[in-house]
Amino acid sequence: MNNGELIYCDGTPGDELSVRRSFTPSGPIGVFDSGYGGLTVLKEIRRRLPQYSYLYLGDNARAPYGTRSFECVYQFTRQAVEHLFACGCPLVILACNTASAKALRNIQQNDLPDMDDPTRRVLGVIRPTVEKTGELTASRHIGVLGTPGTVASRSYELELAKLHPDIYVTQHACPMWVPLVENRESAGPGADYFVKKEIDALFEADSDIDTVILACTHYPLLLDKIRKYMPEGVRTVVQGNIVAESLADYLSRHPEMERRLLRGASVDYLTTEHPDKFSDLGSLFLSEPVSARHIDFN
Ligand code: DGL
Repeated sequence: MNNGELIYCDGTPGDELSVRRSFTPSGPIGVFDSGYGGLTVLKEIRRRLPQYSYLYLGDNARAPYGTRSFECVYQFTRQAVEHLFACGCPLVILACNTASAKALRNIQQNDLPDMDDPTRRVLGVIRPTVEKTGELTASRHIGVLGTPGTVASRSYELELAKLHPDIYVTQHACPMWVPLVENRESAGPGADYFVKKEIDALFEADSDIDTVILACTHYPLLLDKIRKYMPEGVRTVVQGNIVAESLADYLSRHPEMERRLLRGASVDYLTTEHPDKFSDLGSLFLSEPVSARHIDFN
């Protein structure tokens, strides 16, 4: 009898479930991102909730998502969520703003109710970030830096308008920031150029901004450069700890979900790219050894 440990298959195409659980209904928390960015959220969630087991999925082979169409991001995200569900995750965190902006609502409202187990849950990163940021700004002028997809969706503007209608929001897209991170250029001179360029553009649009949301989970990997070029006195909002705190609060309010989570403090990594590439960069980002497994959605 299996008492709750994960059973891994080899993840080859046609393998019905590349990772599946057996006998017990509990499973790890699934954490999804287009690539490495979600690791910045996973790190904080593990710090806040170390008792649970986690399964991270990075769709690195198809990243970045930020310049892709609404439909494409939705289809890719849905595939990832289905895969994590098939691996036994009762709860999936979309640790990706682009996926949260373009796919979360559809998955929550249209897909989940029709799935074989409609009690599983998918949560995003935008709502908790917006809730928290409203408390932080004194000038009531907020800047949002995100991918072209997140900015075009206007999700932050709309959520902020709902929760904090007195806040003036200026969004700005940073199309080069994710490719810089995914291609290991976050410490190089190219990063200086593109980080300064986008921050300057944001403050040219509104110089009263006192709080800037890094609305992409890749951006904390550029934090040294972002801090270097951010005007003095401006607060930079990083999502990882906000999402971790919000998840802890969610689980305290949903004991029926908390009971379904696998305890064991383990973390496993899946990637659609070559696993060595993911392990290499993932270890660098997390400052601990990462061993990834390849999966293929096709
Ligand atoms: N980490 C994703 C986000 O938060 C990056 C999106 C991308 O792949 O462009 O939006």
